[in-house]
Amino acid sequence: MSERAIGVFDSGVGGLTVLKEIIRQLPEEDIVYLGDTARVPYGTKSPQTVVRYALEAAAFLVRHRVKMIVVACNTASSVALPALAERFSLPVIGVIEPGARKAAAETCIGRVGVIGTEGTVKSAAYTAAIHRFNPDIEVFSRPCPLFVPLAEEGWADHPVARLTAEEYLSPLKSHEIDALVLGCTHYPLLKNTIRTVVGESVRLIDSAEETARMVAATLKSSGLQRTEPSGKRAFFVTDVPTRFEKVGGAFLGSILQGVEQVELDWI
Ligand code: DGL
Repeated sequence: MSERAIGVFDSGVGGLTVLKEIIRQLPEEDIVYLGDTARVPYGTKSPQTVVRYALEAAAFLVRHRVKMIVVACNTASSVALPALAERFSLPVIGVIEPGARKAAAETCIGRVGVIGTEGTVKSAAYTAAIHRFNPDIEVFSRPCPLFVPLAEEGWADHPVARLTAEEYLSPLKSHEIDALVLGCTHYPLLKNTIRTVVGESVRLIDSAEETARMVAATLKSSGLQRTEPSGKRAFFVTDVPTRFEKVGGAFLGSILQGVEQVELDWI
């Protein structure tokens, strides 16, 4: 079992920011990554639809005999973890809890901002998770949907991104937060712009880094760490791979090749 790959899925390229961290922290592990590019975005869809998509994506990874599933998508993590845990018997890790834990630990004044897709913010999953760590923390959430296309367009440091960030983030700034959770796979790409707008005193919490730490810790505690270093990576998408390969390189920080198109079975 320990020599099997880690399965990672997202609605598209975004989960590659999580994968990048997993590879950085666990270079010896094999990876099977699925981007559900035919059905992206998940962030604007209903919870019922996202749960179904997540079950179908996870079933694909299980057929590839992975040893663990990482839900590298905030929207899917915010609504689908209970259904995934019920259906599959292998460890399932989402991105919400690791980010929430870090936010609860990092805030000094107990005022945390959370930004994400409409779906993630509506689910209030981050608020609930932060309150599980510390019920006294005040959480202020805001959807920032335009950050997703800006990141994919390569406009993370463009003046348009700066204006958009000012518009989205000024209400959060007025709540005098001292920590801000980047609760969407795409937002780490906009870190510089977000930092400029919120200022140096606000800690930016990157769920990707924290999730990779949790993946490493879970592999260790469940005896699933590889014994022989390998590092093979396989990438699958549900639409033609062209755009994924082009845009995904910036998210992963390395060239993406050999991406294969697949169909998911309906659940
Ligand atoms: N990956 C999604 C997330 O982290 C963002 C893109 C989408 O809406 O599908 O929520």
